[in-house]
Amino acid sequence: MYGSEAVAHDSERTAFRKAEKKYKLYCDHNKSSKKKKQPRPVDLSEVIDFKSILDSFNRNGELPPETFLSPCDFDRPVFCLESRPGFYFIPGAISVEEQCHWIRESLASFPQPPNRTNHNAIYGPIDDLFLAARERRVLVEENSSHTDGGSDSNSFACKVDGPIWKFSEEPGASSRGNMSKSMLASVLLRKLRWSTLGLQFDWSKRNYDVSLPHNKIPNALCQLAKKLAAPAMPLGEEFRPEAAIVNYFGLGDALGGHLDDMEADWSKPIVSMSLGCKAIFLLGGKSREDLPLAMFLRSGDVVLMAGEARECFHGVPRIFTDDENAEITPLELQFSDQDDLCFLEYIRTSRININMRQVF
Ligand code: OGA
Ligand code: MN
Repeated sequence: MYGSEAVAHDSERTAFRKAEKKYKLYCDHNKSSKKKKQPRPVDLSEVIDFKSILDSFNRNGELPPETFLSPCDFDRPVFCLESRPGFYFIPGAISVEEQCHWIRESLASFPQPPNRTNHNAIYGPIDDLFLAARERRVLVEENSSHTDGGSDSNSFACKVDGPIWKFSEEPGASSRGNMSKSMLASVLLRKLRWSTLGLQFDWSKRNYDVSLPHNKIPNALCQLAKKLAAPAMPLGEEFRPEAAIVNYFGLGDALGGHLDDMEADWSKPIVSMSLGCKAIFLLGGKSREDLPLAMFLRSGDVVLMAGEARECFHGVPRIFTDDENAEITPLELQFSDQDDLCFLEYIRTSRININMRQVF
């Protein structure tokens, strides 16, 4: 369902698939140019731009046809589409300061065990991946079968059924010589694709495994989700975020068309927050044959999908990482002190999506 593999297995003929192909990144090898790979230009004229809709609404109160304002008392305009009941778009819902906070959390704290990531299946739980990447450490396979209790302050052990992986200071070094498998922490950080908060989603079974150890969704994120969800909640009811999926996108990464159908009550919204590089979001209909709408997602935008919109196929076929299209200048200005440079380095070429759900 998720990721580029799902895209490849999709039927090649549906309207949704055609739109994914239209917007996905293709690189042309240009021999005459010094830069070998050039992104193929894409026609963005049909992509809905809620930022410019907001700008013109603020200027003259006008809205494009098929677009209307949600009659809620949120502190910013919340846009809806006639053709997609239950879909809400809140451009710039998160301030730049808050965006920076959630980017830091998404990298340094959300991937921490017991939260799981895509790396668990191979390496077991990994502690402090972001710190290790920053300190240029290497994850090394230890051949010994014992579990290290942590006597060495520069390393820790991950207990898995198979081999044990341990961070080491020196590239290629391990207690067993240079024959062990190793992986740069910075490469693992680049390959981080998802982490799960709160109730842990089991991708192989495609459901929530309540037996897996987990922490509650952090309180600040919980409060934010409740506030953001309000426009899509029945009056007087409060959203209860129990699980979140954090998606990490690099250049060329895509999230294939899918439905999020593992939550019990579809009347409750999915609250989806965009951070970092600009992306294209496809919002289809209940069938993959329905022509999807394409729209830009920028850092700080929030999307809510509730009710009928929960039954709509959706996905992210493209993120933009080039200076012209990524639009991360406000973040660059914010992440200015020395400590923050490593976050800035990551987010300049990445997008993060925090997707919050009420499961029961
Ligand atoms: C998801 C999802 C959308 C996004 O994680 O289920 O639809 O904007 N994410 O990344
Ligand atoms: Mn989804």
